Amino acid sequence: HAKSIVSSSGVSIPVLALGTFEPGPASIGRCATAVKEGILAGYRHIDTAALYGCEEEVGEGIRDSRIRREDLVVCTKFWQQYHQPEDVARSLADSLRRMKLDYVDLYLMHWPLAFKRTENYDVLTGADGKPVVDHELTQNHEPTWRAMEALVRSGKTRAIGVSNFTIPQLDKLLSFADIKPACNQVEAHPWFPQNDLLEFCKEKGIVFAAYSPLGSQPGALHIVKARLLDDEDVVAVAKKNSVEPAQVLIAWAIQRGTVVIPKSTTPSRIAANYMVPNLSTEDFKTIDEICLRSPSKKHRFVNFDAVWGVLQFGEDR
Ligand code: A2P
Repeated sequence: HAKSIVSSSGVSIPVLALGTFEPGPASIGRCATAVKEGILAGYRHIDTAALYGCEEEVGEGIRDSRIRREDLVVCTKFWQQYHQPEDVARSLADSLRRMKLDYVDLYLMHWPLAFKRTENYDVLTGADGKPVVDHELTQNHEPTWRAMEALVRSGKTRAIGVSNFTIPQLDKLLSFADIKPACNQVEAHPWFPQNDLLEFCKEKGIVFAAYSPLGSQPGALHIVKARLLDDEDVVAVAKKNSVEPAQVLIAWAIQRGTVVIPKSTTPSRIAANYMVPNLSTEDFKTIDEICLRSPSKKHRFVNFDAVWGVLQFGEDR
């Protein structure tokens, strides 16, 4: 799917991105292959993060694909102990070194929540084992954002953006940003569509990028109540169109005007996910209204409260 959305930064962002998050030893070696296969299948947007631990492999996959660097959009993110303005550039330099790249296209603040760090740049944890929150830099993102703006000026990234931001947090950011956020990457799928946030982003020219569009995989951070891929409406629309449920979810995300980031390390799925069908108005509506018809399905998969016990999502939980 070759479509792109031009962000406020002027950077053209391909709507279909390959996600690369697969923590744990099982993923070793798989990510490089996935990235290479993804690029060969047609993906021109690769999404990663310092946290994912696979930036070396992302770089390897890019090199193996032999694609020209300028034909690819690479996005990475800094983790939460790097919010101090003097640390942001260091985190990007580390990411670039791991990927063996000179620049990225998109550099994102991974979470609005800032943590304190140790001298070794690890997350500082308190006596209760939980990360110590940096309240100042969580309440006020301006110092961190200023450091990110400097990275655009120095050419280390073409655009900057955020991830996991709510409407009030974006509003505040827009009030002081000299360089507007190019995107906000958040969890979004038919069971957690975040319609208000999408509308807000469209109004402000912020690209809305959807992670976990297939419902994500079970893991430490995930609440798995049911499988989105088994949703009866998704399955019915898939059958009707002779495609897979995953393709319906990706098509819906693109048709509602978002960037979508399905993750797979299985080459056949990587290729299938790139073959996005066109949903009829009726089929789109069936998927779009899943949450309206069944409010009980409404939930996010990523459960950060359970892990940290510190993050307040507010109204959109
Ligand atoms: P795998 O990587 O083993 O192929 P999300 O993008 O929502 O985080 O979901 C990723 C999960 O969905 C992964 O576990 C991935 O498995 C799986 N997945 C990716 N593409 C498909 C597909 N076309 N059909 C079924 N499962 C898929």
